[in-house]
Amino acid sequence: MTENESTAEEAAPALEIDADEHDRTLYRILSSAVVPRPIAWVSTRSEAGVDNLAPYSFFTVASVEPPVLLFAPVDGADGLKDTPRNARDTGEFVVNLVTEELAAAMNDTSATLAAGDSEFDHAGIERADSSAVEPPRVADAKVAFECTLHDLVDVGGSTLVLGEVRRVHLAESVTTDGKIDVDEIDAVGRLAGSRYARTADRFSLERPP
Ligand SMILES: Cc1cc2nc3c(=O)[nH]c(=O)nc-3n(C[C@H](O)[C@H](O)[C@H](O)COP(=O)(O)O)c2cc1C
Repeated sequence: MTENESTAEEAAPALEIDADEHDRTLYRILSSAVVPRPIAWVSTRSEAGVDNLAPYSFFTVASVEPPVLLFAPVDGADGLKDTPRNARDTGEFVVNLVTEELAAAMNDTSATLAAGDSEFDHAGIERADSSAVEPPRVADAKVAFECTLHDLVDVGGSTLVLGEVRRVHLAESVTTDGKIDVDEIDAVGRLAGSRYARTADRFSLERPP
C-alpha cells in the first residue's frame, strides 16, 4: 500500500453518535446537518378569530399528487403550539414562502406571544385575503399556498402537519411567461440557530438519462 492509499478502517477520524445513548435530544445535530431548509411561514386563524403567523423550517413537499405540503412543529412546553392547534381546530392554513426581504419580519413572528395576540400585528405585517380558506396570506409573500388539513401525524415530541394545496399565489416578479421561475425566487434557507443562507448562488447539473 502506498502512502496515499487507505483502507476503510483507516478513514478519516469521525465521531459516531448513538442516538439511544445521547444525553440530550439530537436537535442541534439534525438542524445543523439537514441544511438549508426552506421556511414555511404559516398563517392560521384561531377559533376565536385571532390571526396567527409563525415560521417552521422543518418543511417540505410530502406529495405531488395530491399536492401536499408538510411541516413539523415540535411540541411546546404546554403541548401543541398555536399553529398546529389552529390547523387542527379549523382545518385550514396558508404556507407563505420566506424570501430575503421578508426574513427579518419572519424572525419577529417567531416570538412567543399570548394566544390572543396576533403576530401579524406584533410584527406589522400586511394581510391579504385568501380565496379558498379563512386565514389571511402575507401580502408581500412572493409565493403562498392556501391549504386544507390533510392529516396530523403524532411522532412523539412533534406533530406533523400535512396540508393539501388548494390555491397557489405567485407574485408576477417570480413568474416568466406565466410560469414560476426558480431563478427569481430568492428564498432563504435556515441553517442552525440564527444562521441563514441565501439561494441566489445557483448552478446546474444535467440529470443522466
Ligand atoms: C426560521 C425559524 C424556523 C423555525 N422552525 C421551526 C420548526 O420547524 N418547528 C418548530 O417547532 N419550531 C420552529 N421554529 C420556532 C417557532 O416559530 C416558534 O416556536 C413560534 O413561537 C411558534 O409559534 P406558534 O405557537 O404561533 O405556532 C422556528 C423559528 C424560526 C425563527
